[in-house]
Amino acid sequence: MTSIELNKPIAPDKPYNREDWQRGYRSLPQEFDYWIEDVDGEIPLDLTGTLFRNGPGRLDVNGQRIHHPFDGDGMICAIAFQNGRAHFRNRYIQTEGYLAEQAAGKIMYRGVFGTDKPGGWLANLFDLKLKNIANTNVIYWGGKLLALWEAAEPHRLDPRTLDTIGLDYLDGVLQPGDAFGAHPWVDPASQLDHGEPCLLNFAIKPGLSSKITVLEFAANGQLQRKNSTTVPGFCFIHDFAITPAYSIFFQNPVTFNPLPFLAGLRSAGECIQFHPEQATKIVVIPRSPSPTPHALLSTAQTFATHSGFVFHHANAFEAGDEIVIDSICYESLPSVEPDADFRETDFDTLAPGQLWRFRVNLRSGEVQRHLLEARCSEFPSLHPAKVGRSHRYLYLAAAHAPTGNAPNQAILKVDVETADRQLWSAAPWGYVGEPVFVPRHSDHTALVGAEDDGWVLTLVFDASSDRSALVILDAHDLHQVARLNLKHHVPYGLHGSFTPDCF
Ligand code: CO
Repeated sequence: MTSIELNKPIAPDKPYNREDWQRGYRSLPQEFDYWIEDVDGEIPLDLTGTLFRNGPGRLDVNGQRIHHPFDGDGMICAIAFQNGRAHFRNRYIQTEGYLAEQAAGKIMYRGVFGTDKPGGWLANLFDLKLKNIANTNVIYWGGKLLALWEAAEPHRLDPRTLDTIGLDYLDGVLQPGDAFGAHPWVDPASQLDHGEPCLLNFAIKPGLSSKITVLEFAANGQLQRKNSTTVPGFCFIHDFAITPAYSIFFQNPVTFNPLPFLAGLRSAGECIQFHPEQATKIVVIPRSPSPTPHALLSTAQTFATHSGFVFHHANAFEAGDEIVIDSICYESLPSVEPDADFRETDFDTLAPGQLWRFRVNLRSGEVQRHLLEARCSEFPSLHPAKVGRSHRYLYLAAAHAPTGNAPNQAILKVDVETADRQLWSAAPWGYVGEPVFVPRHSDHTALVGAEDDGWVLTLVFDASSDRSALVILDAHDLHQVARLNLKHHVPYGLHGSFTPDCF
């Protein structure tokens, strides 16, 4: 291959360009506060509330590159909407590690995904102190804005200023050093709480056997239920799914070899090995020891299915004797190689994430699965009133092309009842983040009107202008309602949430 071919701006057979994609992984060291004035289209007058986003904002510490974006310091973006206007703000979470490294001007902690402190293996030997980087998700619940990272305690922030208040122990529910997952769900009408909304989250203690603790909180933040279940084997579980009666966990077929990690030779993420010859286990845990009227299980049970790796679930619901779970599944876990640079990802050599439907029969123990959508996709989202209930529409970040693996450049709407699909694409210049569905009606826990009556919000990195934009799509047909052009780029983020409260 000649250098001319390598430097082509857009490969003729691809809707994306890897160098463009890489530019979305630059640090954003500045913190901003401004009204967004550069708007194409009109911001809907009835769109009121705040979109909070979290993700790694710094991909380097004083020029020292971190090894993997999952190790980057958490940065919150808040985009507040009111009366057809929008305000942007971003702030770094002032974690202990962030403050220490910024003061020292160098990397001082080991990252889970391979960022070593300088000094080689000797400096990393027996250094088990991981940095709580608070970079995965952000939720507003019980009057608190919480930045989440699954291996440690949440950080509480001021929802108006995004100032860091500090580690939050949820009024004594957590102890120092406890894990608290980054993928909570809100049951919009909890049968166990007289139909009131309830937030569910989990904490994993992995080991030779692993303890899964499910925590449920009322709208005022008070703990309602706490159940622990121990399952055999190591668990690498990033997300879960809920129904009115159950919490559901996919125990991916992976093992963990701690020796290279303890010796400082490899990061924790690099010591996880995927086993394609082993089954994925689906662990179904009743939310309450006194089952709801239709619940078939009163204790936790495990069901085996085809090998695969799941980071994210779209939704789950109960249907007769079955639990139905829609998830993004990979044929295997892309391994984190010690010497690999994530910026050099060769998309063509990796299996795409695809939307699958799993049906677990609680009586017979049988699990069936079928592919709902072959297009490469991630970051599923749906109407908040449909969480744990049977849904019709899902919104996903997806590849522009219908087959193969590629960066997310499009938003895909899937109608699970029909073969209908809609696609909004930002290709060839745009790279999208997680879509967030926002209902038009201000009571997000109720289904008022059609299930797709609302908007889909997503941040798009635009390589042609080197800036990011917040795009508002009409969820009904995915046409672009407005595009809010920011004054800068926002590094690719992970997860976030929308609250009808305008901060
Ligand atoms: Co996630």
